[in-house]
Amino acid sequence: MDNGISPAKKQKVANGSNNDADKIKSGYLKTQKDPENSVSLLFSLPEKVGALAQVLKIFESHQVNLHHIESRPSKQSSTEFEFFVSCDNKTGGLQEALDALKKIAKSFRLLSRKTGEYPADGTVKTDEVPWFPKKICELDRFANQILSYGNELESDHPGFTDAVYRARRKELADIAFFYKHGQEIPRVKYTEDEISTWRTIYNELTKLYPTHACKQFNHVFPLLQDNCGYNPDNIPQLEDVSRFLQDCTGFRIRPVAGLLSSRDFLSGLAFRTFHSTQYIRHSSRPMYTPEPDVCHELLGHVPLFADPAFAQFSQEIGLASLGAPDEYIKKLATCYWFTVEFGMCKQENDLKAYGAGLLSSFGELQYCLTDASEKKTFDPAVTCDQEYPITSFQPIYFVADSFEKAKEKMREYAKTIPRPFSVRYNPYTQSVEVIENKNQIINLTHAIKGDLTLLEDALSKIGGI
Ligand SMILES: [Fe+2]
Repeated sequence: MDNGISPAKKQKVANGSNNDADKIKSGYLKTQKDPENSVSLLFSLPEKVGALAQVLKIFESHQVNLHHIESRPSKQSSTEFEFFVSCDNKTGGLQEALDALKKIAKSFRLLSRKTGEYPADGTVKTDEVPWFPKKICELDRFANQILSYGNELESDHPGFTDAVYRARRKELADIAFFYKHGQEIPRVKYTEDEISTWRTIYNELTKLYPTHACKQFNHVFPLLQDNCGYNPDNIPQLEDVSRFLQDCTGFRIRPVAGLLSSRDFLSGLAFRTFHSTQYIRHSSRPMYTPEPDVCHELLGHVPLFADPAFAQFSQEIGLASLGAPDEYIKKLATCYWFTVEFGMCKQENDLKAYGAGLLSSFGELQYCLTDASEKKTFDPAVTCDQEYPITSFQPIYFVADSFEKAKEKMREYAKTIPRPFSVRYNPYTQSVEVIENKNQIINLTHAIKGDLTLLEDALSKIGGI
């Protein structure tokens, strides 16, 4: 029967593939549009009365429209302040204003989501770094930057003509849209219909996990049953799962109202934050979803984020993405695809699945272990350029020897990304430190020295040295 969908999609439906790949390809990889054409600047000024007034005068005289200005103590010097300014380039001479500002600023950096949009004299372009969050609360900004809202469905979506389903999607998207860092994730009272969909998927997949999933997944899954209400009759709450993950690895869940750009999604990982949907697929096709849903997140993603090595690996991808040029965001999103979504690993000479797209798909979880697909060793420099289909099972999977080795490879790969700085996550302040000058490197050395002293002490106490 021809139901009007493409042959590729028919294959996916027939195989029961859960392909959130669709959205990562068609949504997460979309270029972020900046509707206001805004440009952000970070600069510090010499200590003198009236320095800021002088800067404002520059913008005024070049008729540049300022949207936002804020100051904060400088990290370089305790007596200095740095200024964050957001302005637009719709009117006036922005380039001339920036040139004048650079002459009086002690430090200057142009932060913009748009790379390559500053022809001017080329000097601006070279120090342009795409904006990225430095503090975990800045992830709140992404709520306003989603590429589509939760109830915007494609015409071939199983829930497209179901008004009740669409209203429910909107209700859950609203929760995420208004969510702020630090709040509890509101609990959802799932309906009997929704729980029945979950039950079907849960019962089928849990039959396969003991033989098809990696050992880390099978170690964590019973803990989720004991602590977070994983069972056939209950859809676990994101808040409970987030608390559990924070206890295990510091990873946390944030609800998301729709699709994020690759850059935004990956930068969440740098803060050990995973953006998760809260709605469930349409009940008419429990074994199929054209996008991520709560079944995919809870069954596919959550268990592995409780594993320390996997959590660290995921964060490495996120840290590598901060301030990276657009072409490298695409490469990192491809690495994410072939690992966190569709990764396989070798354990005691057997292949096992650890990617969420596999662990939440009854069809592909079985298929990936057969010889029908090619297996290659995970190598970020190669994996990052691998093409992949989005509407069928994967013809190629990348196999990791271990999460530790994958993490080391990712770190090495990150060094090849052209960025004028290094980044380090500070778990005490839940912030990203940009390391770009001598003082910061000296501070880092002190921190490492402290750790080495602790290591030396611990080794001496167990008789290791
Ligand atoms: Fe996913």
